[in-house]
Amino acid sequence: MNIVDVILDKRYGRELSDEQIQFFIDGVTDKSIPDYQISALLMAIVLNGMSEREMTTMTLAMAASGQQNDLSYVDGIPVDKHSTGGVGDKITPLVMPLCATFGVQSVKLSGRGLGFTGGTVDKFESIDGFQIEVPQEKFPELVKATGMVISGQTPDLAPADKVLYALRDVTGTVDSIPLIASSIMSKKIAGGAKAIVLDVTCGSGAFMKTPERARELAEAMIKIGNLAGRKTIAVITDMDQPLGRTCGNALEMMEVFETLIGKGAPDVVEVASVIAANMVELAGKNGDLTGDALVEECKKRLVNGEALEKYYELIIAQGGQVMPNGAPVYKVKPFEEIRVTSPETGYISGIKADVVGHASVMLGAGRVTKEDNIDYGAGISFYRKVGDYVRRGDVLCSFSRGENSDADEGVLYDVMEYILDAYSFSTEPVEKKPSIIDIIR
Ligand code: URA
Repeated sequence: MNIVDVILDKRYGRELSDEQIQFFIDGVTDKSIPDYQISALLMAIVLNGMSEREMTTMTLAMAASGQQNDLSYVDGIPVDKHSTGGVGDKITPLVMPLCATFGVQSVKLSGRGLGFTGGTVDKFESIDGFQIEVPQEKFPELVKATGMVISGQTPDLAPADKVLYALRDVTGTVDSIPLIASSIMSKKIAGGAKAIVLDVTCGSGAFMKTPERARELAEAMIKIGNLAGRKTIAVITDMDQPLGRTCGNALEMMEVFETLIGKGAPDVVEVASVIAANMVELAGKNGDLTGDALVEECKKRLVNGEALEKYYELIIAQGGQVMPNGAPVYKVKPFEEIRVTSPETGYISGIKADVVGHASVMLGAGRVTKEDNIDYGAGISFYRKVGDYVRRGDVLCSFSRGENSDADEGVLYDVMEYILDAYSFSTEPVEKKPSIIDIIR
């Protein structure tokens, strides 16, 4: 087989055979196909798309390009969740303990953040002592003890995806439904999931800017999941404004704790409960509860201390520190809160999630390159959200950084400008959008 013929076939809009796709992924994995030919084929896929069969073959080939986890030690059906990314997305640290209250055991492999969307690994790492790089051989012991383990992704999980993703990032080929869908699903399948709940975010802070595109991505991933024998459900959630009241690592984990003691933001409680309910159902641990009744039960357990007990078990099992008053200890405390006040009187009509996400990265909460260090104390707290009425001079939000931050006055000034630019106002009342846009089964 010749890679140039494969590129030409896709360039002329022909469907690739399973053999051609396997040949491509093998060549990506063993590095026998040079970057320029890989990039040419990626661009042809962006332009001409892929059929369901092609996407599924590519996903399974990528999943098989490295180690495939065997989760047979998990009691019941191993169910995983994945979010397509966003700003202020602290759903994983909530749903893991919440699902554990139903006896759902989870093995979660998560990534670090790059760009304006935060990574779950960085969030957990903001807790003092928390060990996020867990050797695989310790997973069964931790799952037996607490029902949960969370760890950073190892380099041998879908290595073909790592090569492709790095090239997509620099060749303008990230934004393609077959490429995003196969990238995400290959890692879930290699991670050992037998059932998957996808949180497909939609809006300014997400890959998919409109509900139509989010639905397209969700449907592609569900088809791949079903063809690959994994029950898959997608929940389309709003990411037009940041989720909840904070973005930034320690701030978000503080919000997780607040949520678990019953003081959560309504959007966070809603999204976490709906995602958890679907995970519990796919894992077959829902008993007699289904639909709204199951979501209500999740909401109850999220805030009444049941999920909090499980959260403590998870933190302590992985070395995290908790104070005698029950609050986790954070590596770096957010300090020197700088307030951003409203320049107008009226209703908040928008808070662009991508713009505040960039502001948060400028403060040090995220990485621009993989090598960057994170300031766990950096981030933004949102006091008012879309639909709220404010008077000129009211505090909209505040931002903070860690004690040893290298964000100087100039950076702080730019951050202030960015944040103000993210807000828009209306003199007319603005309807609050639901946080769950759709659920696709
Ligand atoms: N997340 C992934 O893992 N892959 C993509 O292509 C996009 C988002």
